Amino acid sequence: MEILFATNNAHKLAEVSAVLGDGYRLVTPRDCGVTGEIPETQPTLEGNALQKARYLHARTGRNCFADDTGLEVEALGGAPGVHSARYATDGHDFAANNRLLLRNLEGKTNRRARFRTVIALILNGEEHLFEGIVEGHIIPAERGAEGFGYDPLFVPEGGDKTFAEMDAAEKNAVSHRGRAMRKLAAYLHSIEK
Ligand code: IMP
Repeated sequence: MEILFATNNAHKLAEVSAVLGDGYRLVTPRDCGVTGEIPETQPTLEGNALQKARYLHARTGRNCFADDTGLEVEALGGAPGVHSARYATDGHDFAANNRLLLRNLEGKTNRRARFRTVIALILNGEEHLFEGIVEGHIIPAERGAEGFGYDPLFVPEGGDKTFAEMDAAEKNAVSHRGRAMRKLAAYLHSIEK
């Protein structure tokens, strides 16, 4: 099955195709001639995931899905949340985002945080939502060189490695996106039978 995934981010494509397995060929917006920014202007992860999927579906008519992820830090009232990509600046400046996060957590003893991913699927014109959550905490200084975004600062529950100290398979096994993607994959497999 060919399915359009609303990303041009190579890291995410690799993570997601590993979870979906051989039966699915992921195509990108660029592959379908959709260039430029896909709008994500909603105040929630659910709203943004649906907005992106609807945008692609309207332009291509294809089965498609889009994800939106936020890092929700307890002591910051759930921030950066839906603003995770543009926390420190207008661009996707991971280093600046990480610096700001550490600054905002200075002196705070509660370091609990979670990543939450919402996936919106449009399949044969019908909309479906899937959610994946990983609980963990934010450490005081970056560790590791894998992954992207807040990975060097986030340690998932049950271990002491950051996401940036894990390879893709290890991260996928516990990550927010891995969990949401496995729900998506289980749904796709169930309806194909
Ligand atoms: P997106 O909705 O997947 O584009 O994610 C929004 C922002 O959340 C990204 O720009 C990253 O800063 C952060 N983010 C999303 N997924 C991850 C992840 O797996 N690790 C670390 N940061 C992430």
